[in-house]
This record gives sequence, structure tokens and C-alpha cells, in this order.
Amino acid sequence: MTTGRNDVTIHVQEPTGTRVSPDLWGLFLEDINYALDGGLNADLVRNGDFEATGADRPGWGPLTGWDPEADADGVRVRSDRPVSAANATYVRIAAGSRLTNRGYDPEGMLVREGAYRLRLAVRRAAPSAGAHASLTTADGDALARVEIPAAADAWSWVEVDLTSTATTRAALSIEVVEGAVDVDLVELRPVDPQGRARLFRPDLVETLRALRPAFVRFPGGCVAHGYGLDNMYHWKRTIGPRERRVPMPNTWGYHQSMAIGYHEYFLLCEELGATPMPVVAAGVCCQNVPGGPQAIPQQRMPQYVQDVLDLVEYANGGPETRWGAVRAAAGHPEPFGLRYLGIGNEDVVDAQFADRFGQLFAAVREQYPDVTVIGTLGPKPYGPDYDAGWELARRLEVPMVDEHSYRSPRWLLQHLERFDHYDRSGPAVYLGEWAAHSSTMRSALAEAAYMTAVERNSDVVRLSSYAPLLARVGSTQWLPDLVYFTDDEVRPSPSYHVQRMMAEVRGVEVLGCATTGHTDRPQPPPAMQRVTLRSPGSTTRFTAIQVGGTAHPDQVVGTEGTASLTTDGTELELVATRTDGEEGFVVGFGGADGETVHEFQVGGWRNESLILARRDDGIGNEVDGPHPFDGVRPAVPLHVRVTVEDARIRVWLDGALVHDHEDDLRPWPDLVAGATSGPDGRTHVTLVSLADEDRTAHLVVDGVRGAAPATVTTLAGGSPDVGRPFEASPVEPVATVAELADGRAAVPVPAWSLVTVQVGQAT
Ligand code: AHR
Repeated sequence: MTTGRNDVTIHVQEPTGTRVSPDLWGLFLEDINYALDGGLNADLVRNGDFEATGADRPGWGPLTGWDPEADADGVRVRSDRPVSAANATYVRIAAGSRLTNRGYDPEGMLVREGAYRLRLAVRRAAPSAGAHASLTTADGDALARVEIPAAADAWSWVEVDLTSTATTRAALSIEVVEGAVDVDLVELRPVDPQGRARLFRPDLVETLRALRPAFVRFPGGCVAHGYGLDNMYHWKRTIGPRERRVPMPNTWGYHQSMAIGYHEYFLLCEELGATPMPVVAAGVCCQNVPGGPQAIPQQRMPQYVQDVLDLVEYANGGPETRWGAVRAAAGHPEPFGLRYLGIGNEDVVDAQFADRFGQLFAAVREQYPDVTVIGTLGPKPYGPDYDAGWELARRLEVPMVDEHSYRSPRWLLQHLERFDHYDRSGPAVYLGEWAAHSSTMRSALAEAAYMTAVERNSDVVRLSSYAPLLARVGSTQWLPDLVYFTDDEVRPSPSYHVQRMMAEVRGVEVLGCATTGHTDRPQPPPAMQRVTLRSPGSTTRFTAIQVGGTAHPDQVVGTEGTASLTTDGTELELVATRTDGEEGFVVGFGGADGETVHEFQVGGWRNESLILARRDDGIGNEVDGPHPFDGVRPAVPLHVRVTVEDARIRVWLDGALVHDHEDDLRPWPDLVAGATSGPDGRTHVTLVSLADEDRTAHLVVDGVRGAAPATVTTLAGGSPDVGRPFEASPVEPVATVAELADGRAAVPVPAWSLVTVQVGQAT
């Protein structure tokens, strides 16, 4: 075999003895970024329950999403004699008035030619009442119109079909022509070919199905434990008839109708062929609330523990059990096959957490020993909660822990050996929320490389799910996301293609895999050839600026601006004084090329923290902190001093040392490879190129004789910087066929690419 300068050799060898976890790749599904209401939930009506309030978002109320066309008395929000206590707000529409809903997109809800089922609760509010519903285009042209029978003085459910004559942006109107009618819980869902109202948006479901998820985690994330005790997610409040479900402010700042509740999450899992993985609060709410995390009072814990046990019974109990019967009554006599249960999410692992978690874990373990309970390690893959989470899990013998890693591509690439060193005798790991910080190929490929490391270690890392999963364009609270969508488009990110390709080649046993010919990319150390000064959210005056003993002119920087100084030295000093606004300021320093920058963020995150961050190629994350901080005050000068000494960075604020950090300068490889034997008798090879040049990989697969066919699938885009949030990936996987001769083949590996090779004939 001849090899060139850009060639690499991949030698696939004997099995290592590590089985690949059959549940390795799954989904994290949280109602964030309008993933459920306004997303997977096929209902086109926004705020159909009239329960939106200022607690969802300041300024919101019962008529958010609705346009009344009425005189003063025409449309009244009421709460006397409601359809249920859980859904206390409804509207009374009087004759001559109309209420219109345009859905989640300002241009109107997207309807396609075909039938839509309108379902709503109605009540006659005058001796005779007549109403109708209509679908109209954005220009007011009629698409469909039906009568709404409102003959009773008590609430009743009405289901009628509206058949749209066109595919267009539209509005749903309810108009009363006689008397007055009370209306609540309005839903408009497309009708499927079997004549059923769709629960989920089919294009999004198919997008998820293509990921072959082994499990689905739900309902969060932060949604699971909630913003304050009142906002904690209680599964029993989300099942049963719609009117009995309790809508809640979504912790991400919108309204959660609970039209998709626990039962529907289970149905989705079934639809996707995935194991359900509910995550319940560990009896403690999210720590990011004023005053910190609050725990369910001890006297209410027995009931909460029972609720969690009842959840397992709802999922797995026979129809003869109390909660299995409730499931059967909801139309699903067969169990849902729950095998995993998460308790807690990113919690502060302190005494109150350990106490509540301990009660829940002991009860579940005793009653359902076959359910794998997953504990939590806090929000980061290191730090106090991570350490305390591991300690607690080991002490209680929790079978699995949930590790979260939202990091830069660089971090992931520097940690490819992380799991090689994990203790095999303790709890297993669920990599429950993780992603590299951008929607570019650079991030997607760092994730692919990390996934090869996870797969190689799947005797300890048994489960993994990228997060967040879905994001409605124009309604996001978190970036990046795996799949962006609008009403009419699904826009998978490069990371989506990586997850999909990796799931397609999930094997059963890890094979030895040696790579030669690649290089390690050195990591630049901290530098001070350029200093940048920013002041997002405020205006700051920077004075007495000295770098390496050289004085620089004063700078005044507003919220949009950046002052950039050419400097030289290893020590920086300045005085920063906020003159306007509410936030803090940022002092950046790095090399002359601007590719690697460190930032001292003073007052980051609501002017409450100090963070030292490192950014490479425009993508960064914190390397030290956040540390609590009293905040930048108006007109109060702050003295900043920074020194760099090889990899060490020290930062003083008003004379106090606030960061003392040693940068991680480990190089990362520009080619990462892994191999497994597939369930179908084939050998799977994964190649992740992080190099700037195209290369040829000389593949040598031990044990393959004669001619063997191979499918080569390539995701390549030339530049690591292609891909943007909210847009569909500009690159997609392309499959070609190849042939190995006596286990050897030359495989093209483009710059910055993921290449999978499936060797052999599927059996
Ligand atoms: O995935 C988004 C959020 O990230 C989750 O809700 C939370 O667990 C994490 O902080």
C-alpha cells in the first residue's frame, strides 16, 4: 500500500470485549423553544385554553393569541362556572362578535388543503344561541365554515371538521350570530388518513424517528423541577381529560397547555419505538430562583413519593392496578414498558436534595427493583455538584447518574479520553444533556468525535442524548438546538445529521481501532497581543489602561461597541466605570489573529457573576466560574488586573484575586476513529476528520477476506464554519458504494467531515 503526505491508516482489529449499550442513543425532549405547544403538538391554536397569564410572560393574559372583533361587551373573559377548576378562564362571545386566532406565527397558522378537526367546549349563554367557526386566508378569503352547535346550558364538547380548500396561512375565527356562547379549550388539529385528529406534527415525528432513538427523556430539563415549588411538574396534573389538566407557566417563559401530558409523552415513545424515560423532580425545584432551591416540605414528601411510585404503576402496571386502570381508561391497556426513571435535574446536591432524593430512590428501588433510577450530577461535567452527585450516588448505590456537558467543541475534543478513566465498578453514566456550543460543522464534528469516545466506553456510558432537541424559529430560549422548525419546514442542524449517522452505525461490540498518520493540533496559550473592551447592556468608561507597562488611551464603550487595542505584554491593568445601563463589562485578551480569546466577564448573567471564558474560532465557554458577584454599580470605578504566565491566568478585581486558572492546553487529534461490529454481521468504522485538508484513509479490517462490499456515507462541507442556528444544515450525508479487497480499501476523507463505512453484506 502506498501512502501520501495526507494519508492516514485505520487498522480495525479484534473485539475489545466491550459491548455497545443497546440503549446508547436517545432523545432529550423538553418543552423549551416551543418544542411542544407550537411544535410537536399538532394543535394549531395558540392559547386555546385562555389560561395564559402574566406569570407566563409579563403582558400576557387570557386573550393572548386571540383578536376580538367586538364592541365593549362582545367578548368577555370570565371565570364563573368554568368548564373545570383546573381551566377556570373562558370567554363569552355575544352576537355580532368574533374571536380570531392566528396560531404561533404572526403571518397566521399554516393550513394545508384537507380536513381539520375543531374541538372545543361550549355552553349556551342566552336562551337561543348560534355560532359558527371559519377558516379564512390571511386576506380574509373563506376557506371553510361550519356551525358550532351550542344547544345546552351546561358545558359540552363539540367536534366538527373544517375542510380547507387551499394550502395557505390562515386564521380560525369563532363568530356568534345569535345570543351568546361560552367557549373554552379550543383545539384545531389536522385529520389523518384514518380520520383521527393528529396529536403530533408528522414531519417532526418522522425527523425524530430517523434518529432511531432507543429512549426518550421527558419532560425536561428544567421543566421537570420548575421555577419555584408551584411550578414543579406533577405528572398526575397532566393526564386525563383535557379540562382536568392543569396548565402552567412554562419555566422558559411561555404557556404550557398540558395538551401534551404524560400520557401523550408515553404515546410518542411508543410511536418512535423508544423506551420512555420520565424525569421527575427530586422534591426540589430549580436552583435559579430567587432565594435558591426550595424543597417540598417534609410532611408532604410521603404523598410526593407515592406520586412517583404511582407513575411507574401508570406506565407499567396491569389494567387491574389502580394507575394501570387509569391508563387503560385513557385507551392504552398495554403497559408502556418504562425501564428508566430520572430523579432530579441539574440540582444543587446539598443536604435537602440528598434527603429528598434518598427518600424517592429508596422507595422506587424497593417497589420497582427492575427500574433503573438515574441520579443527577448538577449542570456541569465538573464542579461541586458533580463531585457531590457522584459521592451521593456511590454511597446510595444509585445505578446510573446523569452527566451534563454543554461545552465548546474544543472542550469535547480535549476530553475524548475522559470516559476511558471512569470507574467501572460504580454507577453507570447517562450523558443526558450535552452539545457543543454552535450549530456549525465544527461543533457537529466535535460531537461526532465525542460520540466515538462514548461508544467505545459504553460499558460505563450507557445512554446519551443531545440537548435541546427542537426549536421553533423565532421562539427560542436556548441555542444551539438539534432541529429547528417553522410551521412548514423542518431544518435539521449539522449535529442532527451526525446523531443520525451515528445511530445508523450503532454496533453491538467495540472493535480495536488504531489510527496512524494523523497529527495533533496544538492549542495556543493565553496571550495579550490584542485587548478588547466591551460593555453589553451598558456604557462603560475604561481608563488608566496599561498593558505590559505601556499606557493606552481611555475608551468609552456603549452596548453595541467594542474597543480593540493592539498591545503586548503579560500584564494588563485598567479601571472600568459604568456610566449608563444595568449590566457589567468584558475585558478580552488574546493573540494578534483574534482566533483564541480569553474574556473576563464582570457582571455576566444578570450582573451577578464573574466568569473567565476562553473562545476559540468564535465559540467559547467558561473556564473558571461563574463566581457570585455583587454587581457593577453606576459610577463606581473597578480596578482590573490580569496576568498571564504560560498557561496560567490570574485576575484581580479591586485587589482581590477572583480567578486563578490554568488553561487546558492539551492538543486534540485531527482524526478520530472508532469501530464496532454491527448487529447485521457488518463491521462499522467511523472516521471524524478535523483537518483542513482532504485525506485518504487506508482502511485495514482484520478478518475480512476476498472482496467485500462497503457503504461509505460522508457528511462534508469543506469549512468547519458552515451551519447556522435556525437554518437547515447546508450539508447532508451522501452515501456511495465501495469495495474492500482482503480487508483493505482507500476511503476518501474530506476536510472537516464525518465518514462512516459499513463493511460487508448485511445478513
Ligand atoms: O436543555 C436546556 C436546559 O439545559 C435544560 O432544561 C436544563 O436541564 C439545562 O440547564
